[in-house]
Amino acid sequence: MISHIRQVSLGLPDLARARDFYEHQWQLDVVGVDDDRVYLGSACAESYSLRLRATTEPRVDLLAFAAPRTSDVDAVAERVTRRDDARLVAAPGPRQERGGGYATRFLDCDGRTVEVSAGVEERSYDPVTATESRPVAISHVVLNTPDVDRSRRFYEDVLGFTVSDWVERHFCFLRTGPAHHLIAFTSAGHASLNHVAFEVLGIDEFMRATGRMMRAGHQPIWGPGRHGVGDNAFSYFAEPSSGFVTEYTTAMQIVDEATWRPRVHAATDQGTDQWGTSNRLDDVVRTTLRGRPDPGLWTPPPV
Ligand SMILES: [Fe+2]
Repeated sequence: MISHIRQVSLGLPDLARARDFYEHQWQLDVVGVDDDRVYLGSACAESYSLRLRATTEPRVDLLAFAAPRTSDVDAVAERVTRRDDARLVAAPGPRQERGGGYATRFLDCDGRTVEVSAGVEERSYDPVTATESRPVAISHVVLNTPDVDRSRRFYEDVLGFTVSDWVERHFCFLRTGPAHHLIAFTSAGHASLNHVAFEVLGIDEFMRATGRMMRAGHQPIWGPGRHGVGDNAFSYFAEPSSGFVTEYTTAMQIVDEATWRPRVHAATDQGTDQWGTSNRLDDVVRTTLRGRPDPGLWTPPPV
């Protein structure tokens, strides 16, 4: 029912500085600019991957998933209306955003605004070639939540996600296809964005992307390393003006969905970083990833 993450929309107080970070440092393409919004694309056919909007405080505006068919969008809205712990914000209909298409929006069990859409226009783009370290897609999003199990059940029931793995009972990885995870929930005192991960072509391009950021004066808050659970390489950086965390990643595990059974892993250094090259997952890293309580919860964005 969900094929991939179409885009993430963030509200930020310093639009110019955030744009500079995501455009010139992170190397997304600016594909459009409105009065208070900047649209940035990865090197893929998706109309855009990241929308930045000027707001008084940092907030998550939208988490937007792509579905193959308009009937999937209808089915999601139908399930939302039958639940007490969700609220439909926009009934299925024409999507009023760059790229058009057909969409619905709702508030999930933690109050995040979620969009599911189909039939969005593709755009032409400049494909990456070997050694180029521009992002090629959103890989996954990790969300902080006060109740991992409640969020897990919600995304299974409403959007058709399947659990891939756990780290103890405080970190749950979910997928909708063979890639090990598209989203994950981790336990925190509040709901907020943990990080958005952008995929690059391969390990060499991943190290080049990490090194490019370091040479530009951005030290990774965590990484480079390679996670045990999910097998993906990671380097995490914080956008200076908002504190939102983004990750370069590549080489995530592809599971055989016919035989895969979720495992419960212990939280170990080896599981956290199998290469052993990253800094420790200490309180400073955890605090940065936990972020602040999101003022965007229960408050859908105006656009
Ligand atoms: Fe990640």
